[in-house]
Amino acid sequence: MDAEALRKTREHYNSHANLHEDREQALEARRQGKALPLKSFHNAIKGKMISRFAGHAEKLLDLACGRGGDIFKWAKAKIGYVKGIDLSPGEIREAQRRFEEFSSKRKKRAGSALRAEFVDSDQLGASEWREPWQYDAITCMFAIHYFFVSQAALHRFMENVSINLKEGGYFFGTFPSGKRVQEVIHRGGKWPLFKAPMLELKALWKGDASTFGSAYNCAIGDTVTAGKPTSCQGQAEGSYEYLVFNSTLLGVAAEHGLHALTEWDDPELDECFDEADRRKAVKHFHPNFPATSDSSLSKASSLFAAFAFQKRSADKQPPAGSAAAKRSQPGEQVSAAQQDAKRARTETQQQNGSSAGATPSQQDTLEGSSGAVEQTEQPGADVTQPAGNEQAHAEPVPAQAPLYKRPKARARPANPEGGKG
Ligand SMILES: C[S@@+](CC[C@H](N)C(=O)[O-])C[C@H]1O[C@@H](n2cnc3c(N)ncnc32)[C@H](O)[C@@H]1O
Repeated sequence: MDAEALRKTREHYNSHANLHEDREQALEARRQGKALPLKSFHNAIKGKMISRFAGHAEKLLDLACGRGGDIFKWAKAKIGYVKGIDLSPGEIREAQRRFEEFSSKRKKRAGSALRAEFVDSDQLGASEWREPWQYDAITCMFAIHYFFVSQAALHRFMENVSINLKEGGYFFGTFPSGKRVQEVIHRGGKWPLFKAPMLELKALWKGDASTFGSAYNCAIGDTVTAGKPTSCQGQAEGSYEYLVFNSTLLGVAAEHGLHALTEWDDPELDECFDEADRRKAVKHFHPNFPATSDSSLSKASSLFAAFAFQKRSADKQPPAGSAAAKRSQPGEQVSAAQQDAKRARTETQQQNGSSAGATPSQQDTLEGSSGAVEQTEQPGADVTQPAGNEQAHAEPVPAQAPLYKRPKARARPANPEGGKG
């Protein structure tokens, strides 16, 4: 991976690693903070997703785990063991400290037998990472966008997910949608900067955005993305991130045997996302914050989206444009996933009359080269990512019943520091 990008990200998160002495202080800071509604909402989504896709799992792998903001969610979901890996040694030390704090109070929390380990590494997008065993589930919360630095990094990362995930296991997470980031910056009218009380975005890509390496700066006030922990003033100097294109995310995942699920069979989760995304593979956050919070906080939350993939190696899709992909012409033998993809494409083409039949790479060109410019000229048009293309890599219905029994209790936001917090 790009060494300079890794350095910037590491430095940014190291500087946010330990802002509070203990959990009580962190909780108090959270209660006082202006981003409280966003943090609570994002934590609730993470908690529900963890329970839905990893509840009662024996082993969970959390990639880009941060400083341990999800420890209470793992315990609540009755997970046996979690390994967290992150680029930032500071965040890893803080995660270890928090887990020790959690464990020392464990007796009061009867029933939690959670074990956890935390390791720092910058290799997830750079070289093969093989764990001693395969995991029941893998997460990557608010972090997969860092691997959009390059095609090689995203493929490496997805392959690392795939080799460490059990067959049938889930890989799920959340990320800022590249389409929405572009829209906010373009519609803000002061290219390349969008600036509001709780959100600053600055495009760092030059010319048209491209599929990989289109960098921008993101600072959500009072969260870990902000350059200064307590304010969002002045030039955006937040987290250095990369645009994520949904079709690329789904297409690359499918090449590594990870198939997107469109229906998650969970009404509590459905409520958190845009109604329009009900049967889509990428579900955008739908915040409903109190009127007292600044509207830019809601805008910041709406940038984000969630995904859930299931590993089915037998349905691995060949890389777009490869000989194997070309062989899969009508009338020839094709895999179930390819058939699904074809069916979904045809359906969405019929519904939208759009360019849904494009391959991931063709579509990325559409998103990248025409999207950014046309978006400014036609603010209402959905040109950056025709929804149909997402469906080309998604399962219309879950392939099989969930692996895990969900815990009976409702998952509630438990920890102050996770979820871009
Ligand atoms: C917004 S934080 C999210 C942390 C945590 N997953 C959560 O939900 O609270 C993004 C995290 O991604 C980590 N990260 C960024 N690039 C990474 C990379 N190449 N390898 C591992 N971790 C990375 C950062 O260090 C940071 O902890």
